[in-house]
Amino acid sequence: MRHCLLVVSLFGVLASIGPAIGGESGSAIFRGMRASDRAATIAGVPQTGLRCSGCHGRDASGAVAGSAVIPPVDGRTLREPAPTRPAYDPALFARALRDGLRSDGRPLALAMPRYGLEEAQIDALWLFLSQLEADERRGVEAGRVRFAVAAQPGNREEAEALRLSLERAWRALGSPDVNGRRAEFVSILADPASRAFDDVFAVLGSEPGTAFGTGLLDALVAQGIPVVGPAHLPSRDRERLPDVVWLTPGESALADFISRNAGTLRDAGDRVERHATSARDLAAILALPEADLAGTSLIVSIFAVKTPSDLERLAEAPAETLLVRPAPPFASRDELADLLASLVRDGLAESGRDLTRTRFLEAVDRSTVGIRGRSAGGGDGPMSSDDVDLIRLRPARR
Ligand code: HEC
Repeated sequence: MRHCLLVVSLFGVLASIGPAIGGESGSAIFRGMRASDRAATIAGVPQTGLRCSGCHGRDASGAVAGSAVIPPVDGRTLREPAPTRPAYDPALFARALRDGLRSDGRPLALAMPRYGLEEAQIDALWLFLSQLEADERRGVEAGRVRFAVAAQPGNREEAEALRLSLERAWRALGSPDVNGRRAEFVSILADPASRAFDDVFAVLGSEPGTAFGTGLLDALVAQGIPVVGPAHLPSRDRERLPDVVWLTPGESALADFISRNAGTLRDAGDRVERHATSARDLAAILALPEADLAGTSLIVSIFAVKTPSDLERLAEAPAETLLVRPAPPFASRDELADLLASLVRDGLAESGRDLTRTRFLEAVDRSTVGIRGRSAGGGDGPMSSDDVDLIRLRPARR
């Protein structure tokens, strides 16, 4: 079991969660990266978290949900007349979102929320939907598909080393032509504002040990670029960044681990033990009077910690406190590259010849790659104590 005293760097991780990106892209609005900001209502009742992509699909291709049909809303479909309605233009699109009227003026079903979006946001959405088809195939050509490692000024060499390791891992898989395409790996110095990633299908990985800044992740995901494989970040980021495939287990696996192992995690004795596997558990514990906490053991999942001040208050609590978080599922750069290469191969194979970012993301999300007895691809596989880092915030007083 790895015991790490990483409190300082952990504070760093939490403190680096800055505000989300500045200018909003249509992609970020459509995929609800800041869903709580959106003024959506259903039958006049304010709603939060209603991302367009949640109903219409990440690629706006629509869905059938029980008896309800959710129509496709990609730009090409909207601009074409359909048997049930005339074509949309930007003004009719804006009216549909704000007033809930179809292009022929009839009201849309209540299930389609009404959105109090600003004009610039609606313009950005329309532009995004118009370019969506091309966007979905960025970096894809007849005979190749391009993946990038994102370098930052501080980790250029490591990014290049990861790229070389990816090439090695790809060769080890026999350099497959998957559905007629070979994979190409480039490393790009990430100036998120630049258009450097325009010809990239997806971004792979982050280097073990280097901080993959949330600012960079935000910028990539806001541009609609899938990211596969950054190291662990708190769950807040997982919810906020829907197009990121994490390679560490999720909340339920960690909660399960804690409930199975709590007895052996604490320092012993007949101390009262409390677990927090959710933010609500943690809030309840932090609300207890000091006297109730003294002499107890707190075992807290990293997923329960939502803000830096939660962590500060935990560190000050008069209890033995253990923070449990998933360890990265790789021990070395080569191991990470091997995992990423097989995720890429399987994801491409499952997406078929008609490759799109959405199909690829869905395929990678589903795939599980055995690594040290654990599933990857954001899975919730079984965990052993090798799979977690334990951070002792405050040792037991004896
Ligand atoms: C809770 C699910 C839900 C969410 C969230 C949602 N929609 Fe819809 N949307 C629907 C349904 C259902 C319809 C079909 C309504 C009908 O046919 O009467 C629809 C219809 C539409 C239409 C009209 C399509 C047509 O063919 O007439 C447009 C345009 C649209 N949605 C865009 C959006 C955008 C943009 C967002 C995000 C800002 C969004 N929707 C969010 C469920 C949703």
